[in-house]
Amino acid sequence: MSDNQATLNDGSKTTNMPIRSGSIGPDVIDIRKLYAETGKFTYDPGFTSTASCDSALTYIDGDEGVLLHRGYPIGQLAEHSSFMEVSYLLLNGELPSADELAQFSRTITRHTMVHEQLSVFYRGFRRDAHPMAIMCGVVGALSAFYHDSTDIADPEQRKISAHRLIAKMPTIAAMAYKYSVGQPFVYPRNDLSYTGNFLRMTFAVPAEEYEVNPVVERALDRIFILHADHEQNASTSTVRLAGSSGANPFACIAAGIACLWGPAHGGANEAALNMLKEIGTPDRIPHYIARAKDKNDPFRLMGFGHRVYKNYDPRATVMQKTVREVFDSLKVTDPLFETALRLEELALSDPYFIEKKLFPNVDFYSGIILSAIGFPTTMFTALFALARTVGWVAQWNEMISDPGQKIGRPRQLYTGPVQRDYVPVSQR
Ligand code: CMC
Repeated sequence: MSDNQATLNDGSKTTNMPIRSGSIGPDVIDIRKLYAETGKFTYDPGFTSTASCDSALTYIDGDEGVLLHRGYPIGQLAEHSSFMEVSYLLLNGELPSADELAQFSRTITRHTMVHEQLSVFYRGFRRDAHPMAIMCGVVGALSAFYHDSTDIADPEQRKISAHRLIAKMPTIAAMAYKYSVGQPFVYPRNDLSYTGNFLRMTFAVPAEEYEVNPVVERALDRIFILHADHEQNASTSTVRLAGSSGANPFACIAAGIACLWGPAHGGANEAALNMLKEIGTPDRIPHYIARAKDKNDPFRLMGFGHRVYKNYDPRATVMQKTVREVFDSLKVTDPLFETALRLEELALSDPYFIEKKLFPNVDFYSGIILSAIGFPTTMFTALFALARTVGWVAQWNEMISDPGQKIGRPRQLYTGPVQRDYVPVSQR
């Protein structure tokens, strides 16, 4: 750690604050004693300049378009690794040996079933309920079923709850889909991979055999890798904040799912495909680009722009390549892919997008592949939640394991009325 100091002069007093350095990335000014010493808070709505924690999981250099998990570049992981391996890496800090990976995969596989009574919960939802609405409710309800893994002070229980969450998310997401289309739930099978199992639970019906397509399985596994973790984003920060009060992990992940749902975050994959459908053909793109640039129009190019990336999102690069692979192998095509490519090309040559450094993000192309695989748009964000669960639990566990962990409690700049006396209703 650096012993540098930053000096703040607020007009009446000079305060020194330590500057801390991580292994890479910007240094941080440690302002924890600022209020005690000056009586003033810092002000940073949206946390654009605030590091909320120490973390050894994921590093992003938004200017260079770099994303590392435990030091490994996302491109290498997407190319050579599997979602199970990346999950192990995020949870444990190192890539597993062959034996460790086999053991971990076995453990996750053994946790994929959900309590049978949980299936009754689904019937309480309307058939047209959004899968994310179902996921919020059902994942939150897990804490009512797995009491033996909710003691957050016990590292072993934390590990079991992490394994349960990672394992059960595909089952829960697939059940949400099955419920919406009125088909029977499909139980998991232990001879399939994590991703193959999810495909089967989603698309198989009891009336016939289902064979997992290895190209689709690989593509979806890669999509899961691309979504596994992303540093202190809104949903991860939500999970950490919920967890900082000591709430159980199932409740915390349900909070993360709720936050992910929004169109500025995970909901953007659904919104991006809906936008491409609305645009339709490439000749209509200029109209939508003009709308995105118009300050009086709330329309934004969905799947474009990012708080941290001011360069091409490295996940979008892999995603675009994966679309081509899936299309080639399934011998399908989608005119919306041509529209997306042309939209990207036109936006990236437009001064508005160049000056604001707005590039395609992970959500721009993901909907096109998911749609080709057969998922309805409403399932897109549920798939994001499924994959991000490992990041959420790894971050949550990192936080709980930190001996200096405190409840998260931001302050505010109060702009309401100053103290005044109550007036009885008869005198108002
Ligand atoms: N289309 C048009 N203009 C945009 C867009 C866009 N997609 N994104 C940002 N801008 C403009 C914005 O109007 C603002 O202009 P000005 O400075 O003139 O006011 C400027 O760029 C900066 O935008 P911001 O909203 O202040 O930036 P932010 O960091 O708060 O927001 C964002 C980041 C991702 C919410 C935003 O870029 C956005 O709404 N994108 C569309 C939704 C989307 O694709 N979200 C997925 C993010 S990646 C997956 C995930 O992490 O969940």
